[in-house]
Amino acid sequence: MRSRGAVFAPFFHFLPMKREFIYRAEVGSTNSELKAVVRASAAPVTAVLRAGAQSGGRGRQNKAFYSPAGGVYFSAAFPLSGDETNIAFLTLLSGLAVCRALESMSPAPYRIKWPNDIYVNGKKICGILTELVSVGTRLTAVVGVGVNTRLEQNEIPPALSSVMTSLKAEGLRAPDPDALVKTAVSLLDHYVYDLRALSGNTAAFAKELNARAYLTGKTVAVDTGSETVAGTVTGISPAGLLMLDTAQGSAEILSGTVTEIHI
Ligand code: BTN
Repeated sequence: MRSRGAVFAPFFHFLPMKREFIYRAEVGSTNSELKAVVRASAAPVTAVLRAGAQSGGRGRQNKAFYSPAGGVYFSAAFPLSGDETNIAFLTLLSGLAVCRALESMSPAPYRIKWPNDIYVNGKKICGILTELVSVGTRLTAVVGVGVNTRLEQNEIPPALSSVMTSLKAEGLRAPDPDALVKTAVSLLDHYVYDLRALSGNTAAFAKELNARAYLTGKTVAVDTGSETVAGTVTGISPAGLLMLDTAQGSAEILSGTVTEIHI
């Protein structure tokens, strides 16, 4: 029995995990709530928390994420094995999973705006925030996704209406929230399973990421935190970096905030 366990244990470790789906009508932030659950738990957490609305939804760089009733807001916990070296790639995989889930329920050309947004018809429809929680030696990624589904055009704040949209505002069908969350999380679990089976070789996903890359061909300025890099986007690298043609030659950006420059 011992040797059977030794043979099969790693295999089970890689299987898409069992998930508990939790719904709350309103929370501050599903990411913050789930991170608190992870911190308080002695065992690995694989729960998915969805909220009908968030009073303190958060985006990258601690920006507020507008989260009224009528959107789909959820966070999923991923216990990490410790071998993962490219956590930023989880955000891109989440983008792929959400694009695929949306496409299967409400067909439209969904595009990934590197590193963490989904666009449709040139406007943001979804934002993704991946955060890490470490408890002792245990590391867990919490992936938070916010999709604007049922908001009417007149419910989108005027200050955001030039950059943000919703499925309804685009004349698209708003899917059942539970079905959307379950489909997206299941797809993401399978991507993570595949990535682990490929020993973390992200290159296998590059083709689909590039087929969905919103920024390719666009002139942009990327604020990396330490500098601003301007250039034309040539695609997403096999490791998930943003590739640019700049006046100084080619550049690859690991993380940053991208602004389109309209010339
Ligand atoms: C961004 O636009 O920069 C990322 C937005 C991420 C929003 C989602 S909604 C569910 C989860 N809870 C949060 O507070 N943020 C994420």
